[in-house]
Amino acid sequence: MLECVPLILRINRTFAGHGQAASVGARLLEDFGNGPQAAFILNDGGAADKRQLLKSRVLSINVGSRQLRGMIRITGKEGKMMNACCLAGAERLVSSLDQAVQYDSVQEITNQVKDCLSRLISQGEVSLPEEACRPLADCYARRLVHRSPDWGYEVIAMIWGPGQRTPLHDHAGIWCVEGVFRGEIEVCQYDLLESRGDLFRFKPCDVAHAHLGESGSLIPPYEYHTIANSLADRTSITIHVYGGGMDQCQTFMPMQDGWFRREQKRLQYHS
Ligand SMILES: [Fe+2]
Repeated sequence: MLECVPLILRINRTFAGHGQAASVGARLLEDFGNGPQAAFILNDGGAADKRQLLKSRVLSINVGSRQLRGMIRITGKEGKMMNACCLAGAERLVSSLDQAVQYDSVQEITNQVKDCLSRLISQGEVSLPEEACRPLADCYARRLVHRSPDWGYEVIAMIWGPGQRTPLHDHAGIWCVEGVFRGEIEVCQYDLLESRGDLFRFKPCDVAHAHLGESGSLIPPYEYHTIANSLADRTSITIHVYGGGMDQCQTFMPMQDGWFRREQKRLQYHS
């Protein structure tokens, strides 16, 4: 039986995977003797090491005859939380999401995730530090706040300055739920009518305006959409849960004759 504990990691430059982290973690847990609240800290490493660790779906460690399994948290050199911990209320959100993603169908999962996001945001159980809420001048910001080591889903905060919007895009076949954390957003969904190579034709259909605490989902193949900040004078913020890591998607750029040209877009996380 696995015992779940919070694990706070600082990554070793030579981190190679499960086995090495397990041996170091076990030693420090025994030294500190803090039981389920224990943190173990490896030496600081580079971005490549962090990415390697974040790809791990399960991290478990052996302490004597006990096997412990924990949620990965990444810390920087001074102990400041990076990426996975800039979301206050993360423990409650993450435990709710961990339960939601264990349902059998994508429809059930996204319904559960929608309920979870709406409830926790509306009740003020989730908050972002102000430094994570600042918009960028030239595009909307994507800030990673959690990546599940066990279930593979990601939680990303998106910060939309006045007038900022996405092009028409898909989600690379990955389900997504977005909840409004601040302000108001407009989501416009499109039906795919036909395609010829890299040329696509769409029909705009539903347009939804979502307000604080409201959530919506996108389930492939019905995933073509735009998102925009509805507010002309204020920042809006959305929290997105993706069924997996999405580092690229397809965008569809309008042409003059009603067709759209497909382009591959690499997605990045902003600091
Ligand atoms: Fe999207």
